[in-house]
Amino acid sequence: MVSGPERWTAVDRYLADLLIGPDEGLDGALAAADAAGLPNIAVSPAEGKLLHLLAKLCGARRVLEVGTLAGYSTIWLARALPPGGRVVTLECEPRHAEVAAANFARAGVAAAIDLRVGRAIELLPRLEAERSGPFDLTFIDADKPSTPDYFQWAVRLSRPGSVIVVDNVVREGEVINPASHDNGVAGTRKFLESAANDRRVTLTAVQTVGIKGYDGFAIAVVQ
Ligand code: SAH
Ligand code: DHB
Ligand code: MG
Repeated sequence: MVSGPERWTAVDRYLADLLIGPDEGLDGALAAADAAGLPNIAVSPAEGKLLHLLAKLCGARRVLEVGTLAGYSTIWLARALPPGGRVVTLECEPRHAEVAAANFARAGVAAAIDLRVGRAIELLPRLEAERSGPFDLTFIDADKPSTPDYFQWAVRLSRPGSVIVVDNVVREGEVINPASHDNGVAGTRKFLESAANDRRVTLTAVQTVGIKGYDGFAIAVVQ
């Protein structure tokens, strides 16, 4: 029997087939992303459903996402909302946003999503100025060198009890390499080290294996 990455992938497929199954909105979003030549870096189905469950667990009505891509994770989040709930999702690539908008329409969730196109570091202060927060749940999944800045903004746009999830914090284990030449790894390390000492949040991080390889996510609750 295979072991290592092949086995992780097979187990992820088994779990996704069993626990998620075919879904026109979600499968269509991935197919459209692929057809448009977008990178294959959406969360796995199991992680998407985890985001959905977390949004339900915290009764989220207002969700913020940094990094939309084709909107696969956004659809999972939008489907967890009660009527009248909203996901604000930020994306700097107009081409990604165009594919995402079509995916939201196909999945029937467009009305619950506020897709904003621009650099997140410029859009986040605007959300504060508009008093769009507080957000009940924030998912940070964009350019990794900026994760420490996005996390600071997520805390600012939170209330006590809000949840913040940060994707891709392990990166094949590179996270333990302080000399990594990957700016994303340096950004992740800076985020983890600063959040670990930040009394405003309680945080953990969990390693994952599966169809997206060996990675992990961090999850924080704001005090
Ligand atoms: N959350 C998505 C995947 C996001 S991939 C999912 O799981 O389905 C990361 C996305 O962040 C890409 O689409 C990329 O264009 C976007 N991005 C990168 N830098 C950004 C920035 N500075 N501001 C906003 N979005 C950015
Ligand atoms: C990358 C970005 C992601 O958000 C992800 O989940 C996987 C990979 C990347 O930039 O390589
Ligand atoms: Mg990611």
